[in-house]
Amino acid sequence: MAELNFSLTCINLVEILNRKAYSYPDVFQQLTGGNSMRITIIHGQNHKGSTYHIARMLAEKLGGEMKEFFLPKDFDSFCAGCTSCFGKDEKLCPHYEKLKPITQAMDMADVIILASPVYVYHVTGAMKAFLDHYGYRWMVHRPEEKMFRKQAVCISTAAGAGMKSTNKDMADSTFFWGVAKTYKYGIAVFETSWARVNSRVKRRIDKKTTALAKKIKKNQRKVKPSIKTKVYFNVMRMMQKNGFNKADGDYWKEKGWMGKKRPWK
Ligand SMILES: Cc1cc2nc3c(=O)[nH]c(=O)nc-3n(C[C@H](O)[C@H](O)[C@H](O)COP(=O)(O)O)c2cc1C
Repeated sequence: MAELNFSLTCINLVEILNRKAYSYPDVFQQLTGGNSMRITIIHGQNHKGSTYHIARMLAEKLGGEMKEFFLPKDFDSFCAGCTSCFGKDEKLCPHYEKLKPITQAMDMADVIILASPVYVYHVTGAMKAFLDHYGYRWMVHRPEEKMFRKQAVCISTAAGAGMKSTNKDMADSTFFWGVAKTYKYGIAVFETSWARVNSRVKRRIDKKTTALAKKIKKNQRKVKPSIKTKVYFNVMRMMQKNGFNKADGDYWKEKGWMGKKRPWK
């Protein structure tokens, strides 16, 4: 029986290694049947106010391994507008190395949480500056294939209004990165300090984050992109066929997406 189990494990290992784009931790998780969730949170602010507490509450309910980054503490650069990432190679971005730990953490995550307080109806300047650096990863250019199997959550809080446009600022990026499923949660906390947020509002937040965590857990590693994403991907594919940008076209060819391969399969 032990020998049979060992043989089956070896067969599984070969099968997993044969599949492209699996990193070492993925192999480990598959072999161990591990179900632990990897969560990366990007906080659009340095301080620990309402937005921070809600993002953490959700992540803790999801359980698993959590990585957090605070903006601008962990990344404070503005896009230089050189367009090297689009036209040539993202590695030519003057901030590529500085951004790398966050990029790697997002690529490794099962769930990406983007959280920002509402600042004049939109995300914080730090969050916007951060997202600008991933323009080259939009489907129109060179989307990262791991994104098509991930879930994301956009969280925003406001004193009164502006959560919809703020969540859209972040969800536009997750959609165009190809993230399979994005949830949005915006809440007016009627306060500027978490300590003063009314206990009734806190109970609502608790209920909502519990429900969200349940949905996300249910979809873990089963999630597939929506029809909208697939249609958009195919439109971008047609555009790549017409040779809009050499760096992008070469990337799509190398991925096999000009043929039958798709990033979600
Ligand atoms: C610069 C700035 C702009 C703001 N703009 C808005 C706004 O447009 N609408 C709103 O309802 N609240 C606005 N607020 C209030 C915050 O969005 C709100 O208090 C939020 O819950 C703070 O989250 P935090 O505790 O995570 O910092 C603004 C606050 C600041 C500092």
